[in-house]
Amino acid sequence: MLGHNPPPPDEVSVCSREELAKERRINHWVEAWRDEVVVFDRAPHPLVISGVCPHFGGELDFVPQSQKLRCRWHAWEFDAEDGRCLTYPMKGCVKFFKSEWRDGKLVVFRNANP
Ligand code: FES
Repeated sequence: MLGHNPPPPDEVSVCSREELAKERRINHWVEAWRDEVVVFDRAPHPLVISGVCPHFGGELDFVPQSQKLRCRWHAWEFDAEDGRCLTYPMKGCVKFFKSEWRDGKLVVFRNANP
């Protein structure tokens, strides 16, 4: 049928355990979601966020020493548990994705910050 696009998938397979253990960080663009899923190798479960900083879209890093997220553009820090900004009182926060291991692959779910 013309003009009918299928709905975006509710989940995507992003990487294997081996890939994450080797790379420590996986960036995975999901075209259907128009978002970049970023996975950090953090125990006991990977940290999965949108790679788009809520300030102006900079790239976010997870800093293991402080257990915080830090933006590469303006160095603002964000709480790695709830996504709120720790540097400036802003409305937006980092978007998190739920995920689970399934047959050795990390599956990420579309609905973020439930
Ligand atoms: S774009 Fe991330 S702190 Fe400014």
